[in-house]
Amino acid sequence: MGELRGTHVPVLLERCLELLAPALDRGDRRTVHVDATLGLGGHAEAVLAAHPSTVLIGLDRDTEALAHAGARLARYADRIHLVHAVYDELPEVLDRLDIPAVDGVLFDLGVSSLQLDEPDRGFAYAQDAPLDMRMDQTRGVTAEEVVNTYSHAELARVLRVYGEEKFAGRIASAILRERERGRLTSSARLAELVRESIPAPARRTGGHPAKRTFQALRIEVNRELAALETALPAALDALAPGGRLVVLSYHSLEDRLTKHALAARARSTGPVDLPVELPGTGPTLRLLSRGAELPGEAEVAANPRAASVRLRAAERIDPTRTTGARDNGRADRERPRRKVKGMHLPGAAAPREAVARAAARPTDQGGPERVPGDGTGTAEQGEGS
Ligand SMILES: C[S@@+](CC[C@H](N)C(=O)[O-])C[C@H]1O[C@@H](n2cnc3c(N)ncnc32)[C@H](O)[C@@H]1O
Repeated sequence: MGELRGTHVPVLLERCLELLAPALDRGDRRTVHVDATLGLGGHAEAVLAAHPSTVLIGLDRDTEALAHAGARLARYADRIHLVHAVYDELPEVLDRLDIPAVDGVLFDLGVSSLQLDEPDRGFAYAQDAPLDMRMDQTRGVTAEEVVNTYSHAELARVLRVYGEEKFAGRIASAILRERERGRLTSSARLAELVRESIPAPARRTGGHPAKRTFQALRIEVNRELAALETALPAALDALAPGGRLVVLSYHSLEDRLTKHALAARARSTGPVDLPVELPGTGPTLRLLSRGAELPGEAEVAANPRAASVRLRAAERIDPTRTTGARDNGRADRERPRRKVKGMHLPGAAAPREAVARAAARPTDQGGPERVPGDGTGTAEQGEGS
């Protein structure tokens, strides 16, 4: 386990603690918190310090992150379970630990500073390294396999969808031409190919030209969106009534998945024109964030990696309480951060049809503007903490 370089600052730490506190403080009852993306244990350490009756289950797919977090959390050894797992394996992990329900769940998505700062992991376009990019170095395909085996169409799709890269086709063509000369193995060579593929005027805007390509490959290599799509419903299912889930996303597609997963459970499934809920049709979630919350300027100034974060949170409602007069999972609007332009909240005065339309929108209309990455030369849109 190498020494950590630089400082590690957990993103939106105070806000996460504030949102989780009512779920984790239940008088004398022992509570269970899942940190689904343990990383270096920054958020987890703060939760354990603030809640002496809370047991932590920390998951990470990166064994190196688990080792660092284990050392950091050693003084809490009697109330932590650190598990090497992909977060969509949460139900199996809870089964193994014989834990039927949990009170808090945190997802702080993306890559950690450990992964970004270690040049040999291949996440960085500013340093030459083998093209790996696996968060879990014990399994799975590497970025090298992706760039050397995918067809032109597959590569272009990955770059366009996950990287929102306008020149995806040109970059894919350059990669295929390079493959005719020999195997593409280095991050520096890939970054050079991307730079050469992008017209000169476009190179001058939007940060390093290779940023979007590296981000896209990282998402593909780690199957990040597929895992999240399965993990969010599983985590919501695991929440006890009153339990709370907080998600920090750094990519618009992550945030969209989160928004839809929460919205689907925060509205009634009963007939639109009934004034009361029928048993079993009421919302099972109450939204705690108004749209997506963004970091304040001070946080971004102190921690540039927080620049693109979007926070969403919700509380599991006791289903027996949602029969009767409708409340549609009204958001409690605790200290909302900057308002998200045009965002429709389930609850409020919104008719259910409008909510359904908002949830079905193909794009994140009304979502916050993308904040450019911090230019750290890594495979992130704006990476995690
Ligand atoms: C942004 S960091 C978390 C930082 C952490 N909150 C802290 O304060 O130190 C994200 C972590 O999630 C892990 N991760 C990403 N996707 C994962 C997945 N699908 N399953 C498990 N861990 C994952 C990464 O390996 C990384 O260590």
